[in-house]
Amino acid sequence: MPNTVTLTDNRRGKSYDFNILDGTRGPSVVDISSFYSDTGMFTYDNGYTSTASCNSSITYIDGDKGELRYRGIEIEELAKSKSYLEVCYLLLNDAMPNELQTKEFDLELRHRSFLNEGLAQLFRAFPAGSHPMATLTAATAALSTFHFNHLELCKESEYQRMARRIVAKMPTIAAFAYRQSIGACFIQPDITKSYTENFLYMMRAYPGGKMHIDLDGERVIKEIEIKALDTIFTLHADHEQNASTTSVRNVASTGAHPYVAISAGVSALWGRAHGGANESVIKQLEMIGSVENVDAFIARAKDPDDEFRLMGFGHRVYKNFDPRAKVLKELQVQLQDELKLDSNLMKIARKIEEIALSDEYFVSRKLYPNIDFYSGIILTALQIPTSMFTPVFVIGRTVGWITQWIEFKKGKGMKIARPRQLYLGK
Ligand code: SDX
Repeated sequence: MPNTVTLTDNRRGKSYDFNILDGTRGPSVVDISSFYSDTGMFTYDNGYTSTASCNSSITYIDGDKGELRYRGIEIEELAKSKSYLEVCYLLLNDAMPNELQTKEFDLELRHRSFLNEGLAQLFRAFPAGSHPMATLTAATAALSTFHFNHLELCKESEYQRMARRIVAKMPTIAAFAYRQSIGACFIQPDITKSYTENFLYMMRAYPGGKMHIDLDGERVIKEIEIKALDTIFTLHADHEQNASTTSVRNVASTGAHPYVAISAGVSALWGRAHGGANESVIKQLEMIGSVENVDAFIARAKDPDDEFRLMGFGHRVYKNFDPRAKVLKELQVQLQDELKLDSNLMKIARKIEEIALSDEYFVSRKLYPNIDFYSGIILTALQIPTSMFTPVFVIGRTVGWITQWIEFKKGKGMKIARPRQLYLGK
């Protein structure tokens, strides 16, 4: 049996054979790179619903099974038993770190978490009240000016240093973006704190780095908060060729600086159809306001003439439960009492979920809750301001973007991304 697909152009009565390429998991692909030269026509795939843009060995998703693997390891196992830093090491090195490697990696990221004073001053150019995603995008691109030598990388050690630098600095950039948005002074990283605790510290500390304690003398940053946020970072670390990763790879394909490619990823992620959905979910739950109003909003989501969509529902790939959403749902239950999750928002969310999982409109379109539907409630309970939900997504995803960038650069025969079009003009 030939390992090809034959396509017949009935207009011209001509047939063309294209090779089938098999992966180690998941669907095979039809190699149509010669399609235009063979047929004189382009293929058309609005939104790339059936298009593989590259080959990769980083992250695997089976949308029908609701399966997600980083370097072959299932997300449920990683979220339950590994720290976010171990997951970062796994993605970057395609191997889980041993104890010494974990310590060395952790120490290196702590030392690299500081920003050049000039970059810190950049934030001051923006008005207080600027959305943190806007300043975060600008600062990420500006980081390239302080490490311009990363434009020419060739040795593995250079790739690793470039990657560890931006993974280490992203929480500081995000925290500074937040502090700028509220007109507060910057809190420098504290190298005695872990990656995730440091982010919460830089967000919450008072001038001089002092942490207030609450009435019963408790430290403001609790272990359970650090663990919950660490899990959220892990769940967001990478996700195959989503819109923002595709943006990163497209910018990588032109030969631009890696940090401006990451900045392109940050920009793409901000949209509410993508990573910006987590902020929109909470705003939507607050707008719905009570369980009694849910039915009216469900009706709007189903109305083809109404732009309104149920934020946090649906996914291009998952036509089953998003496995990350399942982990977050369990986390919600664990945190329920400890972190005083907002019971009204929880009730509204549960009502939406209950209806959407049984309503024909959602069931027929396989619209399930995605990661953003649950993350917002937990982030709210972690006292993360709504404007910082997508920056939290950025922190988690930076390691995925830079790993995908490195894979692109090391790939054989990678070409500049340059799709064509169906022209409908004059
Ligand atoms: C993320 O790609 C990734 O991996 C992304 C991500 C990652 O980790 O990188 O997983 C993170 O972005 C998760 C998704 C967050 N976005 C949202 O929650 C926003 C709400 N969801 C939708 O906008 C939508 O579901 C998308 C954008 C997520 C997916 O869009 P698709 O695959 O292009 O699907 P579609 O727009 O073609 O919708 C198919 C049908 C349509 O109805 P019909 O035209 O067939 O009648 O489903 C309907 C849509 O109108 N539909 C919805 C809906 N999502 C799809 N109807 C109501 N509410 C929704 N949320």
